[in-house]
Amino acid sequence: MNKKTVRDIDVTNKKVLVRCDFNVPQDENLNITDNRRIVSSLDTIKYLLDKNAKVILCSHLGRPKGEVKKEFSLAPVAKELSRLLGKEVKLADDVVGESAKKLTSEMNPGDIVLLENVRFEPGEEKNDEELSKKFASLAEVYVNDAFGSAHRAHSSTAGVAAFLPAVSGFLMEKEINFLGTALENPERPFVAILGGKKVSDKINVIDNLLEKVDTLIIGGGMAFTFFKAQGYNVGKSVCELDKLDLAKSLLEKAKAKGVKMMLPVDTKIGKEFSNDTETMTVKSTEIPDDWEGFDIGEETIKAYSEELQKAKTIVWNGPVGVFELPVFAVGTNAIAKVLGDLEDATTIIGGGDSAAAIEKAGLSDKMTHISTGGGASLEFLEGKKLPGVECLLDK
Ligand code: 3PG
Repeated sequence: MNKKTVRDIDVTNKKVLVRCDFNVPQDENLNITDNRRIVSSLDTIKYLLDKNAKVILCSHLGRPKGEVKKEFSLAPVAKELSRLLGKEVKLADDVVGESAKKLTSEMNPGDIVLLENVRFEPGEEKNDEELSKKFASLAEVYVNDAFGSAHRAHSSTAGVAAFLPAVSGFLMEKEINFLGTALENPERPFVAILGGKKVSDKINVIDNLLEKVDTLIIGGGMAFTFFKAQGYNVGKSVCELDKLDLAKSLLEKAKAKGVKMMLPVDTKIGKEFSNDTETMTVKSTEIPDDWEGFDIGEETIKAYSEELQKAKTIVWNGPVGVFELPVFAVGTNAIAKVLGDLEDATTIIGGGDSAAAIEKAGLSDKMTHISTGGGASLEFLEGKKLPGVECLLDK
């Protein structure tokens, strides 16, 4: 990465504002159901503590839209952080108000304060300059470690960097290095697996990856738009009729670029979206009228697995079937297993649903890198510049 990191700046005894992405899933009692994003932030926090910095953490949680709403409080995060660090993490009652000012002004080296949810401030998502200045006034150095929010140009993710020396944390650095190396300098063969429901969500990713990969494997609902575009019947399967021309042009681009684009040869279909529905597996080009495609079939699993076993770099974004329903999770789990068994390849998982699928399959430890960013990793794969990275000091 060509941006300065926390290693390149003096933080000893300084107040350091660290933007993390603690936007973690919670159950109805607000218990954190997956603490991966919190655990991923620990390297940077521990490094700063070792350097005797005064660590001021901030993050958003959910979308409270500029209002203080108790259910979006970072209190459960403060508790979980305290547990993981074995050290008190004080939570301010506000973001940049009296409580935040008081707690941060009383800090000793090695202390940690967590500000309340930055999205309680109406200016946050507007990247309001006054709010950015208020964030800056709390600290002497700014560290952005929130890769998951790096595609947002908000006050705490980008604006504040105009008013403090701004560097990246270790998580941000790791994410950019893995995803960046895969895109710019991959060991080949380089294979991408793209799944998910809609082509429209992934157009720019497909377009950008067709410039980079040797093979593009398509799964999930979006495959049906590609079949429909070639004139096949897709039954009741999800299909974006307004994207047929686009699907056609992506198929043509793959051909022109010499990229092997693989679509499912067979599809597991069901009568309805339910785990108990009647199912069968048919050729993907022969889906009957009243049926709906929900997963890739055995033939496809075999073909995709063979291709993946030859790869040296793999990027996976989006499940290849409706993995929430066990009956249609077979394809996604099989792909996860193939990736987990590869000894010689770099396996990078885009965040969001594919990361959740890997986690559910218990294979997280087997991947080279699982991104903590859903939207952010997608925008990175699209080739876009991320505001949360662009705002940092160049090396
Ligand atoms: C995410 O979960 O993708 C990030 O935390 C960003 O959240 P947002 O989509 O609400 O900006």
